[in-house]
Amino acid sequence: MDTVVSGIRSTGNLHLGNYFGALKNFLRMQEENNCYFFVADYHSLTTHPHPDDIHGNIKQVLAEYLACGIDPEKATIYVQSDVPEVSELYLLLNMNAYVGELERTTSFKEKIRRHPDNINAGLLTYPVLMAADIIIHKAHKVPVGKDQEQHLEMTRRFARRFNTMYNVEYFPEPDAYNFGKQLIKIPGLDGTGKMGKSEGNGIFLADTPSEIRKKVMRAVTDTGPEKPGSQPTEPVRNLFTIMEVVSDPSTVAYFREKHASCEIRYGDMKKQLAEDIVKITEPIRTRINEIVNDPVYLGRVVTMGAEKARASASATIREVREIIGYRPF
Ligand code: TRP
Repeated sequence: MDTVVSGIRSTGNLHLGNYFGALKNFLRMQEENNCYFFVADYHSLTTHPHPDDIHGNIKQVLAEYLACGIDPEKATIYVQSDVPEVSELYLLLNMNAYVGELERTTSFKEKIRRHPDNINAGLLTYPVLMAADIIIHKAHKVPVGKDQEQHLEMTRRFARRFNTMYNVEYFPEPDAYNFGKQLIKIPGLDGTGKMGKSEGNGIFLADTPSEIRKKVMRAVTDTGPEKPGSQPTEPVRNLFTIMEVVSDPSTVAYFREKHASCEIRYGDMKKQLAEDIVKITEPIRTRINEIVNDPVYLGRVVTMGAEKARASASATIREVREIIGYRPF
């Protein structure tokens, strides 16, 4: 059984793209592996030194993942800052991370370009903290998107470097959890590219039905099919792609035929799409709100998660200290 670790941004509210993509895979992973899912609330301080509502964000994100079926009995769900062992490993790994390699990290270069007024050391060592998150549980697998591949490569390097330095085979070098073709990509509503939070083109699981309807009705389309049988242009193709995951196949077939015969009215298609999205998200949204308003349940989940995560993390720290040469007197 593999150990899997994944961090969730504390502002990482789930949209349809996450729901049909990464999340479905998390649900599958938790059945087959020893999974650790945590809210990366230390990491959030690198770009949000004064987070508006860090507690509220953590609560919301936890509620969203739980509402979608992440199961605290199957996986270990915790808050990063509840596990201080992570910061000890981070400190130790920092001693063997070189400023040069950290400065060359794509995400660091990108962040200092966008926030030249806040180039803090935490930002520079972000990959070290991420490596600590992962190897503290001696993970074998990390589900990562394209944007995190370099960070995972650095994690492997830090793990290898530790092993070489102390002449041990202690930390496994974690691999990307590869979903291959199973990963469904959901496009955004702005005509091009995939759905993303920062792209502002998404529908969130926590959106109300009226917000969903408004967003879908405003989605980009085109001026209509050119001639009978012509292929939908990208923005329209994107709406069909979303429809394929949320609607009944007969609904998709109906609108495809209307498109092929040039009789389609995008307004009708959008109305249908909006209702089908509402139908799928409404029970989840209700559940999210129930959980957010149930501090007793949430408290139980994070307490249990912290206990399980700390058991694993403190065992690693004990062994790491021993390997480095710290001994009790
Ligand atoms: N860097 C990840 C992101 O931005 C979040 C993260 C932090 C993470 N620690 C992690 C992901 C450990 C996987 C494993 O999405």
